[in-house]
Order: sequence, then structure tokens, then C-alpha cells
Amino acid sequence: MTTKKIRKIGVLTGGGDCPGLNAVIRAVVKTAIREYRLFVTGFENGFGGLIQNRARELTEKDVIGILPRGGTILGTTNRDNPFHYPIMINGQKVFKDVSDRIIENVNIHDIDAMIIIGGDGSLSIGKELYEEKGLPVVGVPKTIDNDLSATDQTFGFDTALETATEAIDKLHTTAESHHRIIVLEVMGRYAGWIALESGLAGGADVILIPEIPYTLENIVKKINARRDQGKNFSIVVAAEGARPVGGEMVVQRRVEDSFEPIRLGGIGNVVAYEIEEATGLETRATVLGHLQRGGSPTPFDRILATRYGAGAVNMVMSGKFGEMVCLRTPNIKSVPLAEAVHEQRLVPVKCDIVRTARQIGISFGD
Ligand code: F6P
Repeated sequence: MTTKKIRKIGVLTGGGDCPGLNAVIRAVVKTAIREYRLFVTGFENGFGGLIQNRARELTEKDVIGILPRGGTILGTTNRDNPFHYPIMINGQKVFKDVSDRIIENVNIHDIDAMIIIGGDGSLSIGKELYEEKGLPVVGVPKTIDNDLSATDQTFGFDTALETATEAIDKLHTTAESHHRIIVLEVMGRYAGWIALESGLAGGADVILIPEIPYTLENIVKKINARRDQGKNFSIVVAAEGARPVGGEMVVQRRVEDSFEPIRLGGIGNVVAYEIEEATGLETRATVLGHLQRGGSPTPFDRILATRYGAGAVNMVMSGKFGEMVCLRTPNIKSVPLAEAVHEQRLVPVKCDIVRTARQIGISFGD
């Protein structure tokens, strides 16, 4: 708890972009100014802006029209960890702790509290800044992956789900017309939520998720069974983190100074090739990629993001620092950042959604 009077708050967006970031910023600015008569400073490009002192005042005028806009008006990055910041010395890249610069810049701007909108990478840094440097921080959970255990839902997930479902609907008509197998690769990192829920919503035949390792044999069994019933097409939805029994996730590359050390992707093409080889049926892959992170947020995400933004400012005013705003349906609550970043929310393999999917005949390749 702080007893200091709050006059000015800072806000930044960190990590991958996500539909609803602007809706949070808008709610933070409006609530701060209208309800509490605060000033708001926005830092640009995640923690990079706090380290390099790139900041601007945000007024109500700055947030006009941004509610339905994807991306973030502040910019973002999944690099620039202040505790592990790359610096060139004699042509050599070395990593340094520059977190003191953040405290200097926060003081230059007379900021009393920071609202950090991010996924587990940004929120972990927020936690460290709070615990190690005493920075009064409030977190807002963002990610299309919906993999934070301390909240019922992160904003952005619902929009990504809608995009992926629409893609499955479109692929269905091509698959059916051409009698093809189509594999759709979706994002989600180590969690299968986007694949599971879009697969169910879009009527996929096979869903591959990291939590349930698959065998090619079982995928082929399902496709052949459909063919035997006269269904000459199938839709496979593969999470980017899906992996075969005893095998590994497909890694595109390792990324040295990102919050995320590996870039996943490629499973869709691997599985499509293997299915065509095993069945002799024409099989194509579509990688949905960053389309899932863009576009206008759904009404659900706009409302959740707005509630999170207002909730985060309320938390600042009641001194709930080192905590994250969260959804405990139907209420907006708060949870310590330490708990929020402690555990990933993976798909429980025996959960009701998986069971329902199995009951209606969807195969998980297991
Ligand atoms: O965490 C969100 C996410 O879109 C993941 O689903 C994906 O693995 C990752 O970010 C991709 O990040 P980048 O755009 O940095 O490659």
C-alpha cells in the first residue's frame, strides 16, 4: 500500500499486439481523467519507451475513435527487457540490467504508478520492477493465447477465436468442393485454446493441441473413416505447439533477446505432408499467423478490455500495487502478479470442452 497521493499515472503496452489494447488504453485515460482527475503519460513501444524515455501525455482527445481499432496507439515490442537489455560494447552485444533508468524516467515524469498491459513476459518484468525496484505497478492481462491462469479470460482471445473460426468456415467450402484435406495452423504458443475452441466452433474433424500428443496413424484413421462414409474432405486444426507422441514442437527459430526464446510454427505443413503421403488424398495447409492478432476486437473483447482498463485505474487509486486486474466471472477482481505469472493455463485434457468434442466425433489424434 502507498499513502502517496496519486496525481499522474503511466501506461504502456508490452509483448505481442492483440485486439483490445486500444480499448484498455481508452478506458484507462477516460477513467483516470473523468473519475479521478489524474494526468496520464503513455510510454511508447513497451519497456523500450520507459528505458529510452519516449513518452507523451494522453488526453481524452488522443483516445477518440480507438475503441474498435486493432493494434496499439502506443506501439509495442516483445524485446527490451530492462533486466536483460542488449547493449553494444566494442561491436559486441552484451546484456545489462538497466532497470535504474526506468526509475529515473518515471521520476522525470513525476509518475506515481504504472499500468502495464501485457502477457506473461511483460507482467513478469512488471512484477520484478515492483519487487526489486519498488515501482508501483498494476498489470492488465493481454494475450490471444488465453494462457494466464489467474484470470478466467484474457482480452484478445475472443477476437482471435472469431478470426480462426471464420477461416475454418471458409476452408470448409474449398475442402468440400475439391475433396481435399485442409490443415489450418493456428497460434496459441504452448496452449491449445485457440485450436480447441475454433475447431469446435468451426466443425473441425481433427484438432491437434500441445496438451494431447497425436499419432499420424490416429489422424489417418479418422480421415479414412470419413472417406468410408462418403465424406471426401476433412478439416484438421493444428495448434502451432502441437506435437506427436514422443516428438517435439516445430520451432522456426530461436530468438535471443525476445521475451519468448523460441518462435513456433510449421506444424501445419509437416502434418499436411504426412497426411497426403499416408492417405494419397490431396492435402493442403493454411497458416493463419498474425491475422489472429489483428482486426477490430469483438464486443466481448471491447467490454472486457474496457472493464480491465477502468479496473486497473481503480486498483491504482486503492493502492493495490504488485497486482493484476482479472476476470472472476461475473466480477472484475485483482490478484498478486506473483500468482498471475506463476502458472500457464493449459487445456486440461479431461475438461468438458474436450469431452464434448470427443462425444461429437472430433479426433485429437490420440
Ligand atoms: O503470444 C501471442 C502469440 O501470437 C503466440 O500465439 C505466438 O506464438 C507468438 O505470439 C508469436 O509472436 P511473434 O509475433 O513475436 O512471432
